[in-house]
Amino acid sequence: MTSKIWGGRFSAGPSSVMEEINVSIGFDQRLAKQDVRGSRAHCTMLVLQGIISKDDGEAIQAGLTRLEKDIADGNIHFRRALEDVHMNIESKLSDLIGLPAGRLHTARSRNDQVATDFRMWVRAAMDTLDEELRKLQSVLIDKAEAEAATIMPGFTHLQAAQPVTFGHHLMAYVEMFGRDRSRLKDARARLNECPLGAGAIAGTSFPINRHLTAEKLDFDRPMANSMDAVSDRDFAIDFLSATAIIATHLSRFAEEMVLWASAQFGFITFTDAFSTGSSMMPQKRNPDAAELVRGKSGRLYGALIGLLTVMKGLPLTYSKDMQEDKETVFGAFDTIELCLAATTGMVVDMKPNRERMRASADAGFITATDLADWVTRTLNIPFRESHHITGRIVALAESKNCDLAGLTLADMQGVEPRITQDIFSVLTVEASAASRTSFGGTAPANVTAAAAAARERFLKKDRI
Ligand code: ARG
Repeated sequence: MTSKIWGGRFSAGPSSVMEEINVSIGFDQRLAKQDVRGSRAHCTMLVLQGIISKDDGEAIQAGLTRLEKDIADGNIHFRRALEDVHMNIESKLSDLIGLPAGRLHTARSRNDQVATDFRMWVRAAMDTLDEELRKLQSVLIDKAEAEAATIMPGFTHLQAAQPVTFGHHLMAYVEMFGRDRSRLKDARARLNECPLGAGAIAGTSFPINRHLTAEKLDFDRPMANSMDAVSDRDFAIDFLSATAIIATHLSRFAEEMVLWASAQFGFITFTDAFSTGSSMMPQKRNPDAAELVRGKSGRLYGALIGLLTVMKGLPLTYSKDMQEDKETVFGAFDTIELCLAATTGMVVDMKPNRERMRASADAGFITATDLADWVTRTLNIPFRESHHITGRIVALAESKNCDLAGLTLADMQGVEPRITQDIFSVLTVEASAASRTSFGGTAPANVTAAAAAARERFLKKDRI
C-alpha cells in the first residue's frame, strides 16, 4: 500500500514522470481558501444531518480554523507527493486532528469538491474584475468630462470623418466596459449553482442536504444534475469568453493610445511614468504599456480557445483533462487584471494635446457633412443632391488648395446659386460638434450630460 490518500489498492508509487504530469498543487493551491470554506460547509451539513458526530464535527472545524489561519498567513507547506490542494488540505487536517479528519470526505468526492472550489474562485474573480472595470470607467468618465468640449477628428476608415469631442470618444469606451460588466454579471448568475453533494458522479446514499451547503457557500441553489455538476466547466468558459471580449476592448483602446501618442498624431502625451525609452534612439518615448495591453489579448484569446479545446471531446463526466482548466483561468485572470490596471493608469496619466487635436480636426474637409446638411435644411434640397453639390464644392476647395471655410461665397454660388453667407456659420469644427445634439451625439453639452448619466448608471456601488 502507498501513502497516497487513494492508495488502498496500490502497491507501488507512481513513476516520477507520472507524478510530474499528474501534480497540480503548484497551481491549484490558489484554491486553498475556497477548499477550506467548502469543507466547513460540508462538515456543518454532515453534523446537522447526523451523518457524522457533533464531536467529530467540532474537531474538524477547529482544525479547519487553524488551516484557514495558516493559509492566510502563508504559513503552509504543500507537498507535491500529495498531488493537489484537496489532498494536501485533508492531509494537513489529519496531521492536526488525527482520526476525525478521515470523516470529512464522507459523501463527497474530489470531483464535486474541485468543481465547488473552482466555482467559488471564479465567482470572486468576476467580482474583482467588475470592480476593476468600474474603476476604469470612473477615470474615463472624469477625463471625458474634462475634455467634453475638446475637438478632435472622428475617424471612419482611419480617415478624418467628422469633428467629435475627445470626451465623446472616451465615453464610447465607458459603454463598452459597461457591457463587459454586464457580461460578467450574466455569467455570474449562471455560475452560481452549487455542485457540492454530487459526489463522484451519481449523488450519494447518505442523507445529505445540498440546499444547506449551497446556501452556506452563497450559491443560489444546488446544481440539479449530479453528472452535469461534476463535468461542467461552462462557468470557466463563460469567464474566459468575458475576459476575451474585455481584452478586445482594451486592445482597441490601446491601439488608439499608441496612435495618439505618436509624433504623427501628437494627440496625447504620456508622462515618464508610462513611457519607455529606446536603447538606441534618444528621441523616443514609447507607449510600451499600451502595446503590451494590445499584445496580451493574444494570450486571453488563447486561454478561451485552450479551454474550449480541452472540453470539447470529453465524455461525461469528470476526466483528468479538466485539471487543465485552472492554469488557463488563473493566467487569464492575472493577465486581464494587469491590463486593466495598466489601462486605468494610462487614462489618468495621459495629457491630451488640445491644440493638436483641434488643428488636426480642421484638415480634410471634415465639415463637408455640415455643408451638405445646411444645403438640405436651408434650401430644401434632397440630401442625395446636397451630397453631390457638396462633393463639387470640396473638389473646388481641393483645386484651390484651401479648406471649405476658405472658399468665397461666389465660389460656392458658382456650384449652387442659392447658397447664402449663412453657410459659413456651420463650417467651423466647433459649430459642427456643437450641432450634434441628437441623443448619443457628440455635442459638448451632450457629453457632459452623458458623463453625469454614466456616473449614475455605472458607478453606484450596489450595481452588482
Ligand atoms: N486535481 C483535480 C482537478 O483539478 C481534482 C479532481 C480529481 N478527481 C479525480 N477523480 N482524480 O481536476
